[in-house]
Amino acid sequence: MVNYDTDTQTDLEPKILELKKELNGVILAHYYQESEIQDLADFVGDSLELSRRAKNTSAEVIIFAGVQFMAETAKILNPKKLVLLPDLDAGCSLSDSCPAPLFKAFREKHPDHIAITYINCSAEVKALSDIICTSSNAEKIINQIPKEQPILFSPDRNLGRYLIKKTGRDMLLWNGSCIVHETFSERKIIELQIQYPDSKLIAHPECEDQILKRADFIGSTSKLLNFVQEDSALSYIVATESGILHQMKRFVPDKTYIAAPPEKSCNCNECPYMKLNTLEKLYLCMKNKEPEIKLEPDLINRALKPIEKMLSMS
Ligand code: 13P
Ligand code: SF4
Repeated sequence: MVNYDTDTQTDLEPKILELKKELNGVILAHYYQESEIQDLADFVGDSLELSRRAKNTSAEVIIFAGVQFMAETAKILNPKKLVLLPDLDAGCSLSDSCPAPLFKAFREKHPDHIAITYINCSAEVKALSDIICTSSNAEKIINQIPKEQPILFSPDRNLGRYLIKKTGRDMLLWNGSCIVHETFSERKIIELQIQYPDSKLIAHPECEDQILKRADFIGSTSKLLNFVQEDSALSYIVATESGILHQMKRFVPDKTYIAAPPEKSCNCNECPYMKLNTLEKLYLCMKNKEPEIKLEPDLINRALKPIEKMLSMS
């Protein structure tokens, strides 16, 4: 019997690599992408690392295997380059929870506050912010803001609460969240901890407080990946999108990684937006040079400032 999927994939990989050469392109992928896409990418990283790579690339075309806000950031940093996203519908629930007109009103209500905004937001919201941050550099950036300066932190309330605890700063929070990081079941995680008493719980700061309270280590995707490489434990319960397990297994194959489970029997610990990108769509977007990220020059100019501020502060 012919395995259609496998045949398609093995056919596509060399074609994608050939197209990349023709386009003088670079494939950037986030850790939450399907493993086949991660394996083909020139660079796999977290939001901060991907922004840095996008800024410094000499390639003419950036093929972004991630979600819209990440590809938009790459475009803002490289307005003259063609930036392709395999599926334009790859959005983000967190970004959607913060529409620009409401965010503008929030800012206007608190004119004395500086706005530090998580990179998981639209280009319009970036343009309305003072400084962008990621989960890798948020603490470092907040610690550089003078103590007397009040702060608005948007859009993730879980990351915001975590940062308030870490920095001791009393920030005003936007009430947004990520559908994936709010899916983890505390009850099932405790069951796993009883079943695997030597395992460590490691969590992304977008998780809810009851999960973070139980975590042995909290960090961005790349910090979680570094932790399992440096730490002495042999097994981990991983509370973030399950795509990261691919790199954990690649870097430290002899350890055990258990994806933190959702309460329901579903694949809710997979980001439905990230997973819209497939190898087939990656191939087609490179072949057709679309879908392309398009942003107005004025929006690019306004959104660039808070992103550059982030890069200079991190
Ligand atoms: P990282 O920057 O930690 O990779 O997070 C990106 C993200 O979307 C988390 O949900
Ligand atoms: Fe957005 Fe959550 Fe998906 Fe990250 S995991 S891209 S925050 S919906």
